[in-house]
Amino acid sequence: MDKNISFTLKVWRQKGPKAKGSFETFQMKDIHQSISLLEMLDILNERIINEGKEPIVFDHDCREGICGMCSLYVNGHPHGPGVRATTCQIYMRRFNDGETITIEPWRSAGFPVIRDLMVDRSSYDKIIQAGGYVSVNTGAPQDANAILIPKDIAEKSMDAASCIGCGSCVAACKNGSAMLFVSAKISQLNLLPQGKVEAARRAKAMVSKMDELGFGNCTNTRACEAECPKGISISNIARMNREFISAKLKD
Ligand code: FES
Repeated sequence: MDKNISFTLKVWRQKGPKAKGSFETFQMKDIHQSISLLEMLDILNERIINEGKEPIVFDHDCREGICGMCSLYVNGHPHGPGVRATTCQIYMRRFNDGETITIEPWRSAGFPVIRDLMVDRSSYDKIIQAGGYVSVNTGAPQDANAILIPKDIAEKSMDAASCIGCGSCVAACKNGSAMLFVSAKISQLNLLPQGKVEAARRAKAMVSKMDELGFGNCTNTRACEAECPKGISISNIARMNREFISAKLKD
């Protein structure tokens, strides 16, 4: 049964990318457990604005687990205490009366802090851009059944495509590796017949861009897989490595 709870909230505040950040502590009183964590931050921001101070900056958009914008560390976990859930899907019933809740931005060299809890994830966009386009016949639309795709291949591709690019894999990884994200994006295209035309070039370009942007390497700790809100499998990383090595050997 949901009830009102009171708790201590520690939030990372940082005025800009180069500024020194620190935690600001707030006492939250009578917050109903039926509201989401982001709604709790909204309530806090209203209070801060009414006090004539700067509200806490944090990213969000869909608030239903689709866009991947709500990238926060909550009590030391990317996206907080839920399993297979984004921050926006975390409700206050996950927390107890009298608890201390700590909220931080992603901590990774690949995602510099812009302000408070908002980080710059444009490096992900650059990796996607490096992947380029899929060659398609731009003539008349093909019948849906014209290209037959085995069910298991279609499912693997769709599973990889469920990655929302939130960055929790990078945030969870001690090496700051983006390999789960990059491998999911490579797999979703390279597994399908339509994506095979540029498969080798795409794997090389996206891996090179990932390295160029300073992301670390995978050492198989599987922290990324454990914290991914969409349950992306590290088998995608193995597939990406195979694609990359065979593309390089062909060179
Ligand atoms: S706000 Fe879109 S996934 Fe959380």
